[in-house]
Amino acid sequence: GLIRKPTMFVSSIVDERGDELCYSGVPITQIFKNEMGIGGVLGLLWFRRKLPAYGSKFIEMVLMITADHGPAVSGAHNTIITTRAGKDLISSLVSGLLTIGPRFGGALDGAAQRFSWAYDKGLSPVQFVKTMRSRKELILGIGHKVKSVENPDKRVTIVIDFCKKHFKSTKILDYALEVEKVTTRKKSNLILNVDGAIGVAFVDFLRSCGLFSAEEAQEYIEMGALNGLFVLGRSMGFIGHHLDQKRLKQGLYRHPTDDIAYMVDKIH
Ligand code: ACO
Ligand code: LMR
Repeated sequence: GLIRKPTMFVSSIVDERGDELCYSGVPITQIFKNEMGIGGVLGLLWFRRKLPAYGSKFIEMVLMITADHGPAVSGAHNTIITTRAGKDLISSLVSGLLTIGPRFGGALDGAAQRFSWAYDKGLSPVQFVKTMRSRKELILGIGHKVKSVENPDKRVTIVIDFCKKHFKSTKILDYALEVEKVTTRKKSNLILNVDGAIGVAFVDFLRSCGLFSAEEAQEYIEMGALNGLFVLGRSMGFIGHHLDQKRLKQGLYRHPTDDIAYMVDKIH
C-alpha cells in the first residue's frame, strides 16, 4: 500500500494549496464577504477561532490605541535614531521593536499572568501588592512615566468602557482596578497602564467568550500571545516615525555631550 512520507514540519493555521487561500479553514473570499476585518483575521491566525463581532472589534480597538504614543518613548526613539543613521524601513522598525519588553510595551503577558494568578488564588488586592513587594517584583501593568491619577490615560478608559459594555465578564479587569486603588495610594503614577488594562481585559475575553476551554485560555496567557498585540499595533507608529524622519530629511543624530554625565575614572 501507500506509505505516507513523514513531514518535516507541522502547521495548523494557513493552507495556500487549493484554489483559494484559507486562514484556519476559512477561504479568503468568505473573510471579505463576511467583512471579518483585521480583528477577524487575527482571530483566525493567532487563536484559530472565528471571533464574535465584539471580539474582533476589541482587537481592532487595541491595535488602534497602541498604534503610537509619540516620539519620546523608547521604541519610537530607537526607530528615529536608526532612520537618522541612514538605515532602511525594516532596520528602523526592528530597532524600535527590540525595545519592547517588561518596562515598555511588553508588560501585557506579565500583567495577564500575575493578575489572573492572584485573582484565582483569592488574594485580596492588598495581599497581592504586599506579595509582589516581598518578592521584590514590580507589578507588570502598573505604573507610567507621565500618566497618573491627575493626568489619566484616555486609552485605558476606552478599554474599560468597551469591556464593561461588551464582555460577558470583567472579573480580572475589575480586580486590577482594585489593585490600582492600592498602588496609587503610594504614588499617583502607579495607575493601571495601557499594557496592564489590555492584558487583563484579554484574560477576561479568553475566559468568558465561550470559545476556549479554561486550559486553552490559560495556554494563551502563558504562551506570550498578548505582547504580540502591542508589537503589531506599535509597528504602525514606528513605520510612521521612519517615514516622517525621511520626509523631514533629518540627518544623523548625535546626542549633546552636555546632556551626558561622564563618570569616567582615570585608570592609574
Ligand atoms: N509595581 C510596584 N511598584 C512600582 C511599580 C510597579 N509596577 N512601578 C514603580 N513602582 C514603585 C517603585 O518601586 C518606586 O518605589 P520607591 O519610591 O519605594 O523606590 C516608585 O514606584 C517609583 O518608581 P520609578 O521606577 O521611579 O517609576 P517610574 O515612573 O520611572 O516607572 C515604569 C515607570 C517604568 C512604567 C514602571 O512603573 C514599571 O516598570 N512598571 C511595570 C512595567 C510596565 O507595566 N510597563 C508598561 C508601561 S506602559 C507602556 O509602556 C505602553
Ligand atoms: C506608550 O504607549 O508608549 C506609553 O504608554 C509609554 C510612555 O511612556 O508614554
